[in-house]
Amino acid sequence: MKTIDELIAEGVTGKRVFVRADLNVPLSGTTITDDGRIRAVQPTVEKLVAAGARVVVASHLGRPKGAPDPAFSLAPAAARLGELIGADVAFATDTVDESARATVAGLGDGQVAVLENLRFNPGETSKDDAERGAFADRLAELADLYVGDGFGAVHRKHASVFDLPARLPHAAGDLIATEVGVLKKLTENVERPYAVVLGGSKVSDKLGVIDHLLERADRILIGGGMAYTFLKAQGHEVGSSLLQEDQIPVVLEYLKRAEDKGVEFVLPVDVVVSEQFPDLKAKAPTVHRTVPADAMPASFIGLDNGPETNKLYASKLADAATVFWNGPMGVFEHPDYAEGTRAVAQALVDSSGFSVVGGGDSAAAVRTLGFDENAFGHISTGGGASLEYLEGKTLPGLAALED
Ligand code: 3PG
Repeated sequence: MKTIDELIAEGVTGKRVFVRADLNVPLSGTTITDDGRIRAVQPTVEKLVAAGARVVVASHLGRPKGAPDPAFSLAPAAARLGELIGADVAFATDTVDESARATVAGLGDGQVAVLENLRFNPGETSKDDAERGAFADRLAELADLYVGDGFGAVHRKHASVFDLPARLPHAAGDLIATEVGVLKKLTENVERPYAVVLGGSKVSDKLGVIDHLLERADRILIGGGMAYTFLKAQGHEVGSSLLQEDQIPVVLEYLKRAEDKGVEFVLPVDVVVSEQFPDLKAKAPTVHRTVPADAMPASFIGLDNGPETNKLYASKLADAATVFWNGPMGVFEHPDYAEGTRAVAQALVDSSGFSVVGGGDSAAAVRTLGFDENAFGHISTGGGASLEYLEGKTLPGLAALED
């Protein structure tokens, strides 16, 4: 993979450089609630600006349906990028049409533009190679060089991620280089004990990675909504908690494999329950209580790990030399159900091992719960991407930068 420094050394002054970033930040209306992904690509943008390139930043945001939708506009992200780099950032109100062409043509050396959400065009995510290719052709007209730095999207075979680098001389940005370097530490000669904490709502999203980690990790700790499928598989009542009943046979097989292989598989021993899912906007105090994980009252919903589980998980992480964590332990967006997630984050901060927070919700949780990012070994910008990397899959956006 060519590095951005090598690309710059070959000469980028006056050249239009397309930077595929991942500016898919959480928004409340037009307010960005966590700008971590914008800050993550800032060094790459600044390097190119300093080298006199004409920088064209492009990204997706959310999952619009292949047509413009103001709720998914990248305008707030473009404004925030401008604040961060301390310079005007031009904004194109389309992706490859009149506004994009005029905006890019208007860039001077060392100036930056952001294109509107790439997913406003159906060619970006199309499963049809020709349709994706046609969109990539039009994107290629806007640039001379390509820098891939949208780590969070490298697992997507999308036009701007996969097809465009085949059409332009390309290099990997600093964010991708850092992320891949960290993931290598989790897959090649990993330091042991290696503990993995997996949470989030759906067990089906994590099956591939659990399957892979059963061959590699020493301990797997489960929390969040997906824990209830495991608890149910063990024969416990889970009330109206999140449950993927159809996954129970797979989950049982994993528990058996873990036992056979001597991988410690750790499930919650107590959970915080309520009769209602909390209002995440009002965040008003709720009626809730802690119950043993094997004695959940029917009709209650499990919303967080309980205090005994928090202690247990902290003890399982304390002596780990390597920890990977993906997925919150509960509904951390509400203060009554944030303790489980906070406890795992704190355990990672307290551990002297190398800790990686695997993107998405867990990265946002760490920041919104007020933890210092520097207290972790690495906070990834890619949830799905880092999981797929750990599964051993070939990621289209990385493969495209290889040659
Ligand atoms: C993410 O949020 O994980 C990335 O930005 C990819 O988004 P996607 O899952 O909508 O492709």
